[in-house]
Amino acid sequence: MSQITNRRAFLQVVGAVTLGGIAPAPLLAQQSKLRVGLMLPYTGTYAALGTAITNGFKLAVDERKGRLGGREIEYFTVDDESEPAKAPENTHRLVQRDKVDVLVGTVHSGVLLGMVKIARESGTLLICPNAGAGDATGPMCAPNIFRTSFSNWQTTYPLGKVLADRGLKTAVFITWNYAAGKEMLAGFQEGFAKAGGKLVKELLLPFPQVEFQPLLTEAASIKPAAVVAFFAGGGAAKFLTDYAAAGLKGKIPLFGSGFLTDGVLDAAGAAAQDVETTLHYGDGLSTPRNNAFRAAYRKSYKNLEPDVYAVQGYDAGLLLAAGMDAVKGDVSRKKELIAAMERARIDSPRGAWTLSKAHNPIQDFYLRKVVGKENRVMGVAHKALADPAIGCSMK
Ligand code: BEZ
Repeated sequence: MSQITNRRAFLQVVGAVTLGGIAPAPLLAQQSKLRVGLMLPYTGTYAALGTAITNGFKLAVDERKGRLGGREIEYFTVDDESEPAKAPENTHRLVQRDKVDVLVGTVHSGVLLGMVKIARESGTLLICPNAGAGDATGPMCAPNIFRTSFSNWQTTYPLGKVLADRGLKTAVFITWNYAAGKEMLAGFQEGFAKAGGKLVKELLLPFPQVEFQPLLTEAASIKPAAVVAFFAGGGAAKFLTDYAAAGLKGKIPLFGSGFLTDGVLDAAGAAAQDVETTLHYGDGLSTPRNNAFRAAYRKSYKNLEPDVYAVQGYDAGLLLAAGMDAVKGDVSRKKELIAAMERARIDSPRGAWTLSKAHNPIQDFYLRKVVGKENRVMGVAHKALADPAIGCSMK
């Protein structure tokens, strides 16, 4: 720092003291910590997903010496319990009481929509590191709302063609009866029908129930060419185990969006072998970027293996860093902050991605197959896929 700059900074601080603590707002704002509200599930069937996202986000911050745009970070954490009814109140608490500068959350699509409502009303910056509810980057899209993960539609639309190209022309879809399950079902159905397949039955059960047996019995009685499923976290591990226990493994091939096999391979063991899925990440992706990320994550978290949720949390940190660097930590320069995030090219472990006009990633979707303890990447099922973002108009 030159002498003049030093002197100017000194006078600003002295001025703040002698004027009774009223310092120029930008100076104070940049000296204070950036307040980040993590609203994620830390209990229930999605608990491990919330922890992985938190780990990934904090790794991105730690790689920047704990600062974004020159400011240290103060975290405020809320367990949202994957409970949509509590979402508005939980979000409100972070915005009103904790006065966070940015909200990071969440996993469950229903909870996300509650967060989006409050973020739209308050203007608080929101970065979603998982939940794929189409409305968040559709009719409810807004300049301050970003997603670093996927839309639910994106994760299964490419899968329909994969099945049809193999001559598997009839399928049963099994999932939880809420936005994520229903939108993944619709994405699969659209891609499958376009490729000449027919979805013959939808089998739904309430979230987060795991009594799969009656549905598996019904699926078997239909004798489809394939079963397709969306479950995640603890529910996914249980579904894989029950599918094998029902004698369906090896009889009717099982497919899904990649959440079915991500982060659950230790728990599901042999029941997960050979299951094929589509997703924007694969732990077996062998690129220098992914290998470096995986090594750094293991080093920071006692040899824990990262999964897709950790990557999405990490990328939320990278996206926020791009915005914060552009405004040198001054979040009051909101338009510039948003513009920098919009034009960011995220050098992600999943492969580089950019944002659509609706603030959802445009990214490759891989075909993966469980081999041993990894989701091995078999190829790209759909290159640079963008969500159609129906109903989004940025104002
Ligand atoms: C969702 O609710 O949007 C969701 C939850 C877990 C994995 C993927 C999507």
